Amino acid sequence: MTSRRLRAAVVIAAMFSVLVSGCSTSGGDTTPPTAVPNLAGEAPPLPELDDERVARGEELYQANCSSCHGPDLSGDPDWKTPNRDGSYPPPPHDSSGHTWHHSDQLLLEIIRDGSDFAETRMPTFGEQLRDDDIRAILEYFKANWGPQERAFQWQVTWQESQAEQ
Ligand code: HEC
Repeated sequence: MTSRRLRAAVVIAAMFSVLVSGCSTSGGDTTPPTAVPNLAGEAPPLPELDDERVARGEELYQANCSSCHGPDLSGDPDWKTPNRDGSYPPPPHDSSGHTWHHSDQLLLEIIRDGSDFAETRMPTFGEQLRDDDIRAILEYFKANWGPQERAFQWQVTWQESQAEQ
């Protein structure tokens, strides 16, 4: 193992320990962090964000999502406490939430088609938004994540795309 590889593996292991502690109490997340395959693999460099797409994503977010997830992406302060019906309040989409634990593909599917939780108050957007609109919203989220969250989510997205090939 080269030292670069080793360093990448250590960084990712550190991120996972954050994940495990963060996820155990978080609302509605059934994806165990260990589901990410082949952690030792190195993703290509982080893609740069496109400012125009981020701006379009922000507009779409404010129009479609902010009423529940907050204009500043901060979600419901009680997002980890289930409602009486077993559903969860809207989580944040900034670094304090767990949106960044999921790959682009999974986030696209949740937003377009819905999650597979039995109880949810999250609407589906397949009728209102095109895939490209949803990807622009994800681009806006990425612009608001810290470097660690961004790097982690890119790694998960890349690993998943490799696993599918
Ligand atoms: C009517 C309120 C409401 C609106 C509007 C809404 N959501 Fe949600 N969203 C929720 C709730 C509640 C959850 C909590 C988890 C669940 O029940 O699925 C959620 C969960 C999510 C998740 C899963 C988060 C995670 O960390 O696993 C994503 C991603 C998401 N929303 C994105 C969006 C996007 C993007 C929009 C706008 C296109 C949007 N939501 C609009 C209520 C809403």
